[in-house]
Amino acid sequence: MNIVLTGFMASGKTVIARAIAEKYGYRFVDTDDMVADAAGRSINKIFECDGETVFRQMEREAIERASKLDGCVISTGGGVPLDKRNMTALRKRGVVVNLAPAFDVIAARIERAAATRPLLRDQSIEDIKKRFEARKLFYDDCDIRIKITDDKTPAQYAEEIVLICEKRYGMHE
Ligand code: S3P
Repeated sequence: MNIVLTGFMASGKTVIARAIAEKYGYRFVDTDDMVADAAGRSINKIFECDGETVFRQMEREAIERASKLDGCVISTGGGVPLDKRNMTALRKRGVVVNLAPAFDVIAARIERAAATRPLLRDQSIEDIKKRFEARKLFYDDCDIRIKITDDKTPAQYAEEIVLICEKRYGMHE
């Protein structure tokens, strides 16, 4: 079984997934890395040269590959739940954990996060908030929801997530 992390950009998926991998022996997989590796260029470049539609298609293919893995913690790109087929594939062998910060938490991280995220670059805070609100419905497609604040460390979230997965789903690596 896999642990699949979903959530808005800068909600902490990658750092928390890395903490789960380090402490609990799951293999770390990041779907953005899979896309960038397959394309041979960065996410920024893919958006710039080919556009979002091509990126989403590549993301779909990466998700199909990721969903066949086992024993992994899979950090997904923030837009993965927009396509229902992605979630159906990931669910076959995965417990879906949604990381859910309030918008304030995201807002405080935006400046740093924008460097590698085309959908945050040159956007007004109002537009980012609109996207954040519009995404909520898609992030509801999850098995577990974890409220994210700045008060806990990635290691603490990792422990919380793994404990719930073990208790509720009997998962063990
Ligand atoms: C996106 C999120 C990004 C990346 C791409 C699009 C989105 O991943 O997949 O820039 O649509 O929310 P992170 O959530 O890891 O930043």
